[in-house]
Amino acid sequence: MSAPAPGPARFITFEGIDGSGKSTQIKRLADDLTAQGHDVIVTREPGGSAGAEEIRALVLQGEPDRWSAETEILLFTAARRDHMERTILPALAAGKIVLCDRFADSTRMYQGLSRGDLRAVVDQLHTLMIGREPDLTVLIDMDPAVGLSRALSRQTADERFEAFGEGLQAAMRQGFLDLAQAAPDRFRVVDGAREIDAIAQDIAAIVTATIT
Ligand code: ADP
Ligand code: TYD
Repeated sequence: MSAPAPGPARFITFEGIDGSGKSTQIKRLADDLTAQGHDVIVTREPGGSAGAEEIRALVLQGEPDRWSAETEILLFTAARRDHMERTILPALAAGKIVLCDRFADSTRMYQGLSRGDLRAVVDQLHTLMIGREPDLTVLIDMDPAVGLSRALSRQTADERFEAFGEGLQAAMRQGFLDLAQAAPDRFRVVDGAREIDAIAQDIAAIVTATIT
């Protein structure tokens, strides 16, 4: 499923630990691409459609043990399925470039790693219910200590996973790098510990090379 896209990349996801700068960079990239005349939509997970945004509140708010690990995987996958059906696939069919803040790689890391090894369950459910990988995934790599301090300084209500702390974020950082190594056709890794402009330039170069 990680084979290179046959045509130009249209479905582009951004991954990385909490606070790695995904939202900041997606906004910059969307503005640049739009200014160049591309038809772009920005979306996010969990969420990105009306139903999936409702599920977002269920999975991101409340106590860490609110859901069992398995129920949580089902909820994230249900949200993703609705997001695919209602937002992503229609946009791709209309020829738009879809920039998505997190996708299945986040479930592979967060639900696959955080409460025992559930990676196989995540992958099986993905195959069954989603069955598609992005054309391109930009991984913003970042020291967890920096990412966590940035993320916590935002103080939103969606903090169920940010409360996991630095040890788990470190495991996920390595997990994301391992995913990137396992699917080099789809992934590009960018160093997130730099100025916003420098990171944006790298991402613009990567994306420009793949959308044409
Ligand atoms: P994410 O979406 O990956 O959680 P954000 O884009 O929301 O990350 O960034 C988290 C915080 O860090 C925000 O307050 C943002 O303004 C800030 N930030 C983002 N990129 C940088 C950077 N390169 N250097 C310093 N601060 C940054
Ligand atoms: P997000 O809003 O991207 O948070 P941040 O801006 O801090 O990166 O994502 C919210 C949280 O949801 C984040 O902590 C990661 C978690 N998450 C999962 O646990 N599994 C998933 O499948 C997805 C998409 C997100």
